[in-house]
Amino acid sequence: MTTPLSSAQQLIKSAKSVLFITGAGLSADSGLPTYRGVGGLYEGQRTDEGYAIETALSASMFRRHPEITWKYLWQIGSACYQAKFNQGHTIIAEIEKNKPNTWVLTQNIDGFHHQAGSKNLIEIHGRAERLYCLDCDFQSTAEQLLANYQQTINLPPQCPQCGGLIRPDVVLFEEMLPEKALSQLYQLLETMPFDMVVVVGTSAQFPYIQQPVVIAKQLAIPVIEINPIDSELSHLATYHLRGGAAEMLTKLWKMA
Ligand code: APR
Repeated sequence: MTTPLSSAQQLIKSAKSVLFITGAGLSADSGLPTYRGVGGLYEGQRTDEGYAIETALSASMFRRHPEITWKYLWQIGSACYQAKFNQGHTIIAEIEKNKPNTWVLTQNIDGFHHQAGSKNLIEIHGRAERLYCLDCDFQSTAEQLLANYQQTINLPPQCPQCGGLIRPDVVLFEEMLPEKALSQLYQLLETMPFDMVVVVGTSAQFPYIQQPVVIAKQLAIPVIEINPIDSELSHLATYHLRGGAAEMLTKLWKMA
């Protein structure tokens, strides 16, 4: 008797190149909070200052009150540094080694795909560990400048070179996506050199996350979704594996 899992296992076994689209749910298995859904950071909660978290993490807030934005960036950065990548990230990197034209489009800023060994990686929302100064060419990492977000310092951090404002290389709300990552994504979407798309742990709020899946459907490329609940993309999934990312990726790949 075939099941969504057994059919998905067949697909991944015969696939030559896979596009993974990942979100916070993949890192939930590392203990990081998701943004929406059950227990999500944004789930209707206000910050201590009474703002919606999307407002606190927005470009306009960062311009007016960088210390407020940095307070929440610090929480996210600190959570990332106290956690590490999990079996789900490892399996995705293993699949890329086994099928070299595999790519990962991630919304996560934790750097876990990179740490787990993924090479063909588009970090569309940037990476929390990279820092730069708004007023000069100074660049650094959270490890060098912020002791990995592990010790309290006066926020916002100041540039040691010019005293200017330091920020992480991540996309704040209201900001444009990074040019390089976007052009890499568009190049892939032009040719769509994939014979399978696997969407893992995302509520798929954003058009640039939905678009690759819509194109895959138009090209009759099978789409697997791994998520305990439905997302904005579930109606497009060929098979929806309802469960945690690490557990379902293990079943998908290790037991294929
Ligand atoms: N395994 C798989 N999926 C999970 C797990 C898990 N263990 N736990 C939760 N999920 C699912 C949730 O059901 C939800 O659909 O992961 C998804 C997480 O959705 P979001 O929290 O919205 O995260 P994401 O889709 O990555 O958000 C996109 O929004 O706020 C911005 O920049 C932020 O990158 C983030 C973006």
